[in-house]
Amino acid sequence: RWLCFVWHHGLWSMTLVMAPWSLVSVHLGPCALTQFFQIFSEYQSNDFYATGESYAGKYVPAIGYYIHKHNPIAKVKINFKGVAIGDGLCDPELMLGGYGDFLYQTGLIDMLQKQYVEQQTASGVQLIQQEKWVEAFEVFDSLLNGDILPYPSFFQNATGCTNYFNYLQCQVGTQSKAYIQMRGLNKG
Ligand SMILES: *[C@@H]1O[C@H](CO)[C@@H](O)[C@H](O)[C@H]1NC(C)=O
Repeated sequence: RWLCFVWHHGLWSMTLVMAPWSLVSVHLGPCALTQFFQIFSEYQSNDFYATGESYAGKYVPAIGYYIHKHNPIAKVKINFKGVAIGDGLCDPELMLGGYGDFLYQTGLIDMLQKQYVEQQTASGVQLIQQEKWVEAFEVFDSLLNGDILPYPSFFQNATGCTNYFNYLQCQVGTQSKAYIQMRGLNKG
């Protein structure tokens, strides 16, 4: 039996793996961790892992480092064993510049679209350096995820992918669709 502290997009949750067939998930704030172990002290000796994806690329190292540093002096000790991160946004300032190449090299966008992505990611990096966090997020969101947009993101338009986690689910993008119609390529 082990404990996981999981971040998925917007929520921390504590997953108790009681047995292979029973999963209990409780949504918690990070400071509730030690309270949890005070209340459920029977779990305190379980192996503990902090895991997560996406923005957890920031939270998981932070909580891991915090536990590691505080454990020796903490009253309520956590049996901390490790961390795991998937698709983590650990360092957007450094990572943004890679998107153009990645999307181009995987064949999801063409050269012209790559230029647009690179121009947008450069502007995102600039906004991060100016500490304009909201504006930086908006550039990123309008380029890729479209989480808070009332219209599709550039990525959705260019690639036809509505699930940015899995490009196997991509359809033909609206831009390619327009090209196909213009060239009459859909008429066999
Ligand atoms: C995606 O296409 C829609 C419809 O043409 C358009 O309104 C929207 O602005 C486009 N998204 C971006 C980020 O350019």
